[in-house]
This record gives sequence, structure tokens and C-alpha cells, in this order.
Amino acid sequence: MSERYNEIYRRSLNDPEGFWAEAAEAIDWDRRWDRVIDDGAQPAARWFAGGMLNTCHNALDRHVAAGIGDRTALIYDSPVTGAQRSFTYAELRDRVARFAGALASRGIGRGDRVVIYMPMVPEAAIAMLACARLGAVHSVVFGGFAANELAVRIDDSTPKAIVAGSCGIEPNRVVRYKPLLDAAIETARHKPEFCVILQREAGPAELVPGRDVDWDEAVAAASPADCVPVAATDPLYILYTSGTTGQPKGIVRDNGGHAVVLKWSMPNIYDTGPGEVFWAASDVGWVVGHSYIVYAPLLNGSTSILFEGKPIGTPDAGVYWRTIAEHGVKALFTAPTAFRAIKKEDPGCALRAAYDMSGFEALYLAGERADPDTVKWAEDHLGVPVIDHWWQTETGWPIAANCVGLGRVPVKYGSPTRAVPGWDLRVLDEAGKERPAGEIGALVARLPMPPGCAPTLWNADRRFREAYLTEFPGHYATADAGYIDEDGYVFVMARTDDIINVAGHRLSTGAMEEVLAEHPDVAECAVIGVADALKGQVPFGLLVLKDGVERDTGIIVDEAVGMVRGRIGPVAAFKSASVVARLPKTRSGKILRGTMRQIADGEEWKMPATIEDPAALDEIAASLSAAGYPN
Ligand code: COA
Ligand code: AMP
Repeated sequence: MSERYNEIYRRSLNDPEGFWAEAAEAIDWDRRWDRVIDDGAQPAARWFAGGMLNTCHNALDRHVAAGIGDRTALIYDSPVTGAQRSFTYAELRDRVARFAGALASRGIGRGDRVVIYMPMVPEAAIAMLACARLGAVHSVVFGGFAANELAVRIDDSTPKAIVAGSCGIEPNRVVRYKPLLDAAIETARHKPEFCVILQREAGPAELVPGRDVDWDEAVAAASPADCVPVAATDPLYILYTSGTTGQPKGIVRDNGGHAVVLKWSMPNIYDTGPGEVFWAASDVGWVVGHSYIVYAPLLNGSTSILFEGKPIGTPDAGVYWRTIAEHGVKALFTAPTAFRAIKKEDPGCALRAAYDMSGFEALYLAGERADPDTVKWAEDHLGVPVIDHWWQTETGWPIAANCVGLGRVPVKYGSPTRAVPGWDLRVLDEAGKERPAGEIGALVARLPMPPGCAPTLWNADRRFREAYLTEFPGHYATADAGYIDEDGYVFVMARTDDIINVAGHRLSTGAMEEVLAEHPDVAECAVIGVADALKGQVPFGLLVLKDGVERDTGIIVDEAVGMVRGRIGPVAAFKSASVVARLPKTRSGKILRGTMRQIADGEEWKMPATIEDPAALDEIAASLSAAGYPN
């Protein structure tokens, strides 16, 4: 075991105030905090209360002032368009300041919300940092969501402005964002005052007079804006993530704790220093993109890669190796599903031979369980440590990891290793009693959570309390089940709610059920996450039709699939469903989704004692078998 990790971990729990105050010295403050932690704050503790800072200053201006303005801050590499551009810290600072000026001249200021709906282009990062510069609160919406999901987020965050790209580029098609944006604004009750549209050559859009402004024109007419100091506890952003219903949770991130913890994580978890190249192959629409494409590498003075492509098909399964070699990437962070895709396409990893990856030192995987086969394949073919680590949108940074910067420890396959400093992890039974080592239960963190974690949900303190703090008083409930072994290694086994993980994307089966229930022929439905060799899990629907419906069930299934794609978006990957006579339920009427999933995945399952009618499960097993499950 790493002595350094042990010592630092102990210190972080014994003296959290001293520990994080020391980490906070690495950040520029306009005003120092009054209290490191305000643990009486509601609904959860607040870090660095009384402090003032600006996150964009710490990510950009500060490095320019320190004389490293000519260091590369961001490299945009876009195999889908063939474009490559890089920005020094000074160039990025200037572009961000100009765009911030364009927003400020239209009335955007501290506390105003700005929705960002953009593909993986540098302007997405520029827009985020420009909001941070003004103290405005950004809310990035992933491009793979449908107009309806965008509308829900517009209504919840009530943005004064929306910044959007005219289109995104998927390997098989151009996705026109602008019609989706127009439809979302049409549907939403809240209307933004203006939209800034980045026109892309692959799919320019028509602008709505009086509402839409062209990005280039807005920037050309703008003067640079300065950084606005904000409270450490002010929100930097809202990022919506799936909850258990169709209403997503608006995860709030503060400025102070976030800056401190992300800066700390770069050397200590990811072993990446200033000037070194870090690549998070994710999307700015996800938390990984917020933390490790935009904020953490820049706060750290590192070089970040913004990659607009896929692990395969853009143009081939060697694109990751090409990118690593060409830009001198030291650490790559992605989801296991990306490696499953590469492994499937190029099982012997033959394409790697063409590239000099001598500067590459570690691969970090997160977002879903890293299956040992994939981890071993990557270890064998890349010859570098493969680090599984566990985190959530709510936390914004890792909960458990092999902290490479603190001394790497041996890997136990299937485990994201040990609790990261700051995290006091426990495993509890249903009554809230601690489980012995090696026994499965609810994974929870003793309060207070370390800095950087969501202090609340946007406009929903009560929902925050109920979702995370009520079930196990004094603890944050992660909604993951698992165990911690006698060496302190954490094993994350399954979600305890209806969230599924599709290609590293977090989705709610409950939200899909809400959409399916609106089909005029559907009386009742259930969606379960079934195992998938590429995506980890994919959703599968079970539909019970209303009495008397005699339409072709194939057509009904196609309509249902189209509805989920149209309402939630292609990212849901909802492609199949079966019509069944009834759903298996307990005597109290609860649908037995867990047992259906076990059947679909070919796991051992027991007839639940509380089942209303055992024959219903046999019928489901037959329907699943007809649909090819277990596969
Ligand atoms: N804008 C619009 N549509 C998008 C989109 C975006 N930004 N991102 C994805 N989509 C669409 C895709 O085109 C696809 O549509 P289709 O059903 O018409 O083919 C659908 O959403 C599902 O996308 P995806 O989950 O990416 O599946 P895929 O089959 O296109 O690719 C992988 C599979 C494994 C290559 C892909 O999931 C991947 O690269 N994963 C990497 C992991 C990752 O980035 N995780 C993020 C968290 S770290
Ligand atoms: P998201 O909020 O999209 O980051 O998804 C968070 C969820 O993904 C967690 O609650 C876990 O269920 C799952 N997850 C993330 N990382 C891991 C990991 N390393 N191992 C197992 N599950 C993970």
C-alpha cells in the first residue's frame, strides 16, 4: 500500500479544514474565506464560505499573468471534420474575454443562467468559460438529447440566453441542432431573451430575426470583459442528470470548492502537472467533460484535448492512438465502452503499431463498471496502468480511485480501488447499520462531503435532501450498491434505483416509461436495462396493450421506439421492445423489474415470495427468450 496515500487519506479525514485550506492555497482568491467549511449550511455543507474568486481567472488569466500565456491550453482535434486548432492560454483568454463581452453587452451578468447546446467544438468551452468569467451560471445540454429534454432544462433553469451550434456531426449523419433548439423554445414556457448561434459549415442554420445573433458577428462587435469576482458558494454551473422520473435533477456546482478540488485532483489523482497533456475523451455535455476537458486541466495549467470524434469509425479504431501520439498525451480518460468498441473492431490492437505512444503513461476509465476483460485487454495492448475510478455527476470528481500521484497501488480487477482523500465511505444495510468488510450494501459517504460536490439541486433543496440525505441520516447516499473489502478496496456493483448506464451515459428507465405510457395503445409498461456487450447496458421495453387493441404489434413497437427517440433523444439507445400480456408484480402492485432483468441477463433468479402470480414471470421469460434474451 502506498504510504503517501495512507498518510494523506488519514489527514483528509482527521483534519478536513486544514487539509482543504492548504489545497486552497493553489487558487487565487479575491477575498479569503471566513470559514473553510460551513457545516450548518442547508441542505448541505458549504465550502470556503465568505471567500470570493473567479473560476475563469484561475483557469486562464492567472496563467497568462504568471508568464505562461504562450503555453498551449486547448487542442481541438476533429476527425469528423478534419479540422485541428490549438489555442495558447493567452489566445484562449482573449477569445473568452471577447465572447464574455458579447454576452455582457446583451445584459448577461452575475447569477444569470445561460444554456449551452453545442457539439464538441472549442466554442463550447469558450462559452462555458465566458459565463464563468461573468459570474453567470452555465447549463450545458448534451447534443444527443431531443428537443423536449432541452425544453425541460430551459424551463427549469430559466436562462436569459442560449448559446448553440447550428449542427453536430455524427459519423453517420449531420445532426441539425438549430431546429431542435427552435422546437425546444417553442415548447418551453420560459423564453430566452436571445440566442447566439455558431454557424458550422456542415449545416448552417437560418437565424430568427430579433432573437438570434450570429456568434462571429457578436464577437466581432464586442469588447473584452473582465473577470467578475463571485462568492465561493455561488453556482458556477447547473448540469442536469437523470433522476428517477422524467424531471432531471439540476446538479449545482459551486465556484470555490470546485476550483480547489479539481486543481488538487490533477497532480494527486491523475499525476498530471502543468504543461502536460491530458485528454478526457468525453463530451462537454457530461460531467467528465465539464471537469476534465474544461476546468481541471486549465486550472492546473495543463494542455487539454477537445476531441470531436468517436473511438471507432472516425476513421478507424486507431484514432485514439493517433491522437495520443500526435499531441503527446500523457493521460487519457474515457469510458470502458470506448475500449470495448475498439477491442471489437481491432481485437489484436494492430492499429496501435503505427504510432509512437512513448509519452503515454496511464489510462483512466470511469462512467460505468470497468469489466476485467476490457481492463486486461487495455493493459496488455497499451502497456500502461489502467485505472478504474468511480464517480458521479453529483460529486464532480472521483469518489474512489487508484491515486497515481499519491503512489499507485496494485489493481484488484473489478474495483475502482480505494476511497479518494476527503471521502469517508461506508457500506450500510437497509437499517443504516454498517456492513462488515466484503458484504454488500448501500455505498454511502459520511457527511460532510468533500469540496466540489453538489451542495443542492437547482431550485430543489427538498428534492436534494430527500434523494441523497434522508435514507441514511448523516450520510450521502450514492444510490450505488457494493462492498468494501478488508484492504479498503471498493467494489461498485449496481445502482439501487432505476438508473441504467448506456455506453457510459446515465439514463432513467422511469423517464422512458413515462414516454411509453403516453402511447395511445399502451396500458402499462416497464423498461429494464439489459446487458449489452458493447454499451454495457441497453434499455428494453415491455408493453402491455389496452384491451381491444388489435393493431399490428410490430407497428406499435416501432412507434414506441420512435417516441422515446423523439422525446428523450437518440442517446437513449432505445431500440427494442416486446408486447406482453401482463407484467409480473408483487401483491402490493410493484412491478418486478429486477427479476425481469435477471432473467434477461441469464442470471440466477429466485421466484419472489411476494409475487402475485408466478405464471406472469414464466410468460415474461418466454417473451424475453423470443426477443433473444438471454443473448
Ligand atoms: N449529438 C447528436 N446525436 C448524438 C450525439 C450528439 N452529441 N452523441 C450521440 N448521438 C447519437 C448517436 O449518433 C447515436 O444515434 P443512432 O442511434 O442514430 O446511431 C445515439 O445517439 C447513441 O450514441 P452512442 O451512445 O454514442 O452510440 P454509438 O453507437 O453511436 O457509439 C460508442 C458507440 C461506444 C462508440 C460510443 O458510445 C462512444 O464513443 N462512447 C465513448 C464513451 C463516452 O464518451 N462516454 C461519455 C462519458 S465518459
Ligand atoms: P454519471 O452521473 O453519469 O457519472 O453516472 C454515475 C454512475 O455511473 C454511478 O452512480 C455508477 O453507477 C456508475 N459508475 C461510474 N463510474 C463507475 C465505476 N468506475 N465503476 C462502476 N460504476 C460506475
